[in-house]
Amino acid sequence: MDECVVIKGKRILLIISGGIAAYKGPDLVRRLRERGASVRCVLTAGGAKFVSPLALSTVSGDKVYQELFSLIDEREIGHIELSRDADILVVAPASANILAKMVQGQADDIATTALLATDKPVVVAPAMNIRMWEHAATQVNVAALRSRGVTTLGPAEGDMACGEYGMGRMLEPVEIADALEAFFRDRERLSGRRALVTSGPTLEAIDPVRYITNRSSGKQGHAIASALAQLGTETTLVSGPTREPDPTGVRVIHVESARQMLKACEGTLPVDVAVFAAAVSDWRAAMEANGKIKKRPGETTTTLDLVENPDILATISSAGNRRPQLVVGFAAETDDVIDNAARKLETKGCDWIVANDISKAAGTFGGVANTVHLISRDGVENWPRLSKATVGERLAKRIAQRLTEAND
Ligand code: C5P
Repeated sequence: MDECVVIKGKRILLIISGGIAAYKGPDLVRRLRERGASVRCVLTAGGAKFVSPLALSTVSGDKVYQELFSLIDEREIGHIELSRDADILVVAPASANILAKMVQGQADDIATTALLATDKPVVVAPAMNIRMWEHAATQVNVAALRSRGVTTLGPAEGDMACGEYGMGRMLEPVEIADALEAFFRDRERLSGRRALVTSGPTLEAIDPVRYITNRSSGKQGHAIASALAQLGTETTLVSGPTREPDPTGVRVIHVESARQMLKACEGTLPVDVAVFAAAVSDWRAAMEANGKIKKRPGETTTTLDLVENPDILATISSAGNRRPQLVVGFAAETDDVIDNAARKLETKGCDWIVANDISKAAGTFGGVANTVHLISRDGVENWPRLSKATVGERLAKRIAQRLTEAND
């Protein structure tokens, strides 16, 4: 697929917020228009301190929207139409302030109102001082936006206008234009596709108050579901109990036990791709007691009979003509990560295994980062240590690529 073709004719609402990187706005507009997109600009009061509306309207060939309560702006095109008329909303640069406002749903200017009023994909390219970027408040805000389906581009590492060096520099306009092209291309590849993702632990009841479970947080599975949905896939997430919020744009089925999870998964078939990221309990109590199991006087040891749970990944991998085109399993390993995981390709009958190191030193369980290896019958891809959100986005892109190749 010719890259420019996917962005040609797309209508981009570019929101420029306050930050020195706003001066790159006209260059970004020019590059997007060169590739055939139409660009309409919204400039915040802060943004207008760094770039002139005249420069933006000259390069965009359109009016620049600045006022929420302007009689002229509202008569020509209201803030609701601004987002309705766009295929995508891009906030570049996205300041720490506008990210925080987006999280809170504030709508005190035309930019934040358009962002609140939209049901279109939203992409942000953060730009700020390194300490503002690394501040817990910003990191929490970015994580919240990602879980709501907002795509983040960057920031990059580099020299900053404030004289410091580090993470927080806005991606260059050409990098943003490339990323938007890739975004539209992947969406085109995945549009009309259906995905199933499992996430979180399972919870196996022993009696009405006790259960067997594990430390899975659901962060990785939820991030994958969110990333697939952002790329336009009709996504169902079957999740065990987690603290993660339901990702935006994803149908979520909440379950507890492995058997419930299997039933829910089977109910979503047929799908094009299934990703099994849940940490399913291998065992469950042979008999779930109706009443609370009592400790008997003098009892110092006891036994609990366990039986094997169904293997959801293996079951769906051998579902005959209902088998998804692409089945992806996970392997959480503490030793010989790649060898053990590669063996699972055969034992489970899946197409890919995402292997991750869950040794204590790696801090994967419950943490925000993950070091994974993507194992297929073609070989092993070693991915660098990435946030779980980025692993989700990268996996969603690889899935888009693979489903397209398979259809070529
Ligand atoms: O065998 P192991 O638990 O290491 O396999 C991990 C992979 O198998 C994961 O993708 C997990 O979601 C899946 N699995 C499953 N049902 C089970 C056990 C594991 O779907 N009962």
